[in-house]
Amino acid sequence: MTKAQPSTRHIISINDLSNKEIETIFEVAQGFLQELADRNVPNRIGRSTNLASKFILASLFYEPSTRTRLSFESAMLRLGGANITSADPAVSSAAKGESLADTIRVISNYADIVVIRHPRDGAARLAAEYSQIPVINGGDGSHEHPTQTLCDLFTLRAKNKNLRHMKVAIAGDLKGSRTIHSFVYALARFGATIEPLPAPGMELPAHVDRRLREEFHSRMVSKSPEQAEAADNGTIDALYVTADQPHQLSLYAEPEADYGLVLQKKIDAVYVTRFQKERWTEKEQPYPKIDAKFLGEPKFSEASVMHPLPRVNELDASFDSDRRAVYFQQAAYGVPVRMALISLLLHLHQNKSLHQFPGGFAKPDHPIYAQPIGTGVQCGNANCIVNDPAERQYAANKFYVVEGPSRTHCKLRCAYCETDVSEEAAAHFVVADTARRTFSPGLEALLRTPADKLKHLVIYCGGAEAIAAGFQLRETKKAHAS
Ligand code: CP
Repeated sequence: MTKAQPSTRHIISINDLSNKEIETIFEVAQGFLQELADRNVPNRIGRSTNLASKFILASLFYEPSTRTRLSFESAMLRLGGANITSADPAVSSAAKGESLADTIRVISNYADIVVIRHPRDGAARLAAEYSQIPVINGGDGSHEHPTQTLCDLFTLRAKNKNLRHMKVAIAGDLKGSRTIHSFVYALARFGATIEPLPAPGMELPAHVDRRLREEFHSRMVSKSPEQAEAADNGTIDALYVTADQPHQLSLYAEPEADYGLVLQKKIDAVYVTRFQKERWTEKEQPYPKIDAKFLGEPKFSEASVMHPLPRVNELDASFDSDRRAVYFQQAAYGVPVRMALISLLLHLHQNKSLHQFPGGFAKPDHPIYAQPIGTGVQCGNANCIVNDPAERQYAANKFYVVEGPSRTHCKLRCAYCETDVSEEAAAHFVVADTARRTFSPGLEALLRTPADKLKHLVIYCGGAEAIAAGFQLRETKKAHAS
């Protein structure tokens, strides 16, 4: 594997950025908007600087895009830099079967920074592992789209002056929409209340819901007080409420919110998404339409109406002239926000920077278990990059070991797509010790083992698989020895 240079920094998830770094990006973006504004058109960058005149951005897109690719490329041109583009996998060497891992190693020599979009969850993370230059995730499957979230937050900040303590409704395909997944993590980190309004069967994925509750300290609160208990069980319509303190994946519970006040508060923003038909096998499904009638409810009277775009039919065009419609402003902010991100990742500001990490990634919050593909359990998400036949040999069975509240229970989260291994499957898992050649049922051994020794353990789907690989049940071996 090519080792990344020490100064490289990758942005794969919105959680790769601290709240303070997000504020730094916004300060820089605001500066560009002021210095380089089109004086006749609000929110538009109309002039250029030569800040990045010696640099090249590569856009590597395996999926269609208008906003993300073109606003990144516009941002680079406005910075005085140059672009090279691979916008269609049918006319690149991907069509000949070239892997993403090889492609990124090659592109690392042609450009100084790369933005990638890919249909597979976790693809950007795999690309970053093979890149010597900063990798920005421009959307990977239904996993995340962190730079869209930066545009969304920048829009909210412009409207609400401050990102804390907002109440935001999210509507539509909450399961398939990667913009939603990055957005809800960021909202929770800024202490927001989130009201899910999913299309039927398109609720937030279980792993996103669990992270919001367990790692971001969001609490489910019923919209009607008498159903509070059912809300905690996730069985009824409810809001995610996070306390209004800033926190960065804090280990400590935040102070209790006043739920009565939260319920009464008007909605600050409604975020609408389209049906992500490319993520579903059933291409026609019932889908709510957000229109003036829906937004006529008093609680939406001051709400900014947001959409990452493209829209299809879910948000009526007749709403475009409403003072609350901000979706084209959101898209316009793609240029200054991405100018800020590119220039910070290329270290082009004397007094402002994003932190540097060896290997390009911040130290993860959880220990990492890793074994080569073909050894032990692998990610169960069929759309994860590790399950792509072209990429398998370049990936690994790599999981975060996420400790449960009891400290005797843990779950596994794929380090690429960040999907949790199902509890049902994990109930049968065993952990084998390659030094002792024994295995024990359950995942507790992962919690007892220091992070630097996890490489000696292999997780198998069950005892039979461990025995077939030459391991003995720990108790059986002890009995034979005594
Ligand atoms: N919002 C967004 O990602 O748009 P594109 O698919 O056009 O890039």
